[in-house]
Amino acid sequence: MKNNIQPAKGKLGILIPGLGAVATTLIAGVEAVKKGISQPIGSLTQMGHIRLGKRTENRYPKIKDFVPLADLNDIVFGGWDVYEDNVYEAAMNAKVLEPGLLNAIKPELEKIKPMKAAFDKNYAKNLDGTHVKQGTRQQLADAVMADIENFKAQNGCDRIVLVWCGSTEIYYEASEIHQSLAAFEQALENDDKLISPSMIYAYAALKLGVPFANGAPNLTVDIPALIELSKLTDTPIAGKDFKTGQTLMKTILAPGLAARSLGISGWFSTNILGNRDGLVLDDPDNFKTKEVSKLGVLEDILRPEDNHELYGDIFHKIRINYYPPHGDNKESWDNIDIFGWLGYKMQIKINFLCRDSILAAPIALDLALFIDLAKRAEMSGIQEWLSFYLKSPQTLPGLRPENDIFKQLMKLQNTLRHLMGEDLITHLGLDYYQDLVEVL
Ligand SMILES: NC(=O)c1ccc[n+]([C@@H]2O[C@H](COP(=O)([O-])OP(=O)(O)OC[C@H]3O[C@@H](n4cnc5c(N)ncnc54)[C@H](O)[C@@H]3O)[C@@H](O)[C@H]2O)c1
Repeated sequence: MKNNIQPAKGKLGILIPGLGAVATTLIAGVEAVKKGISQPIGSLTQMGHIRLGKRTENRYPKIKDFVPLADLNDIVFGGWDVYEDNVYEAAMNAKVLEPGLLNAIKPELEKIKPMKAAFDKNYAKNLDGTHVKQGTRQQLADAVMADIENFKAQNGCDRIVLVWCGSTEIYYEASEIHQSLAAFEQALENDDKLISPSMIYAYAALKLGVPFANGAPNLTVDIPALIELSKLTDTPIAGKDFKTGQTLMKTILAPGLAARSLGISGWFSTNILGNRDGLVLDDPDNFKTKEVSKLGVLEDILRPEDNHELYGDIFHKIRINYYPPHGDNKESWDNIDIFGWLGYKMQIKINFLCRDSILAAPIALDLALFIDLAKRAEMSGIQEWLSFYLKSPQTLPGLRPENDIFKQLMKLQNTLRHLMGEDLITHLGLDYYQDLVEVL
């Protein structure tokens, strides 16, 4: 497999629809790392290691030294937003990072100005930005394609990837026009309102063979039409919804409880947050999209239908409350009612004072770098190995998603080993003992 990977030569353009809290934290973070004033903590591609071969070989390189990823110094950022603020202003408004840090990289951030957005207010009623393109769905898609090509030429980029960091759109399900590329393209021409703005960006990217990752829970590329297009243009896709905060904790803890056959009768999750994401999610239609994305996680990990005694009656409830004083510093509470030996009850309480965008930014970076790697390795369509980063992993229709973070990590690491022609690691390890017996 190794020989098929094109080297990461030249510049990588990371284009981001939605230059809000997550995107500006990502961009500022990468600029700060490039200047040597910060560390890319939380990023597996930058900080993580991977074991290769047998434990006795002691090979444990950094992932970025093992697979050919774009170097942070070769990244150029750009994006779109419905507000005109440049990235410095948007980052100051988001109040995630300290002004001191932002001022140290002010010139780099100020020069990134959003392109006009492909937007439809019906999909995010709480936004009132006016920095938007005019035209039919087809014209918007053409304009986004032109934006991508102009950006690539003006910045001398070799390759481009798109990572959706735009607001969560209202809840919608796939309909007839999403079922095939032909139907979707007809609907674009008809300016059909069932095509959401995020789908316009995704279509434009895929049409140009540009990889697309979706950090929000909207369907976006998770429809047959765009999966078809991704195969047609040999383009990798990944989604949905960055796995941060409460869901990250859930996918760490639930596999542990299930591993020890401990029962769970209830899991109540509530949180307060006051950023613009929280404002958008304050609309019930937008919240529904998030709720659906978060709810599936426990079911997939615990499989109540196969583990009826342990999880058959689980009551899972999720609340998100918009609370401006906390800004991006989300506070979450989980109450987990569990039961053990002979049905005796216990409780676990988690109070996570997290910083949403601090957790999301490294995920967005890793997704961009890995999906670029996938393109260079000639992988196309759904990249399930990137589920590790996602709350509601996109899979082929009929295939159950894997939400257990430890299995997701193993899948990601084995994919990297496979790409680089290394042995896959099963953790069986019996051969060590067999070899020992033979020596003795
Ligand atoms: N922060 C996290 O930890 C986290 C975790 C998981 C998922 N997400 C998702 O990531 C996305 C971004 O989160 P955030 O905290 O940065 O939100 P944010 O509100 O700060 O930023 C989103 C930006 O998208 C812009 N936008 C909306 N529609 C657009 C369009 N059609 N084209 C261009 N720009 C558009 C908005 O104007 C806004 O500036 C949200 O969908 C959120 O649900 C965030």
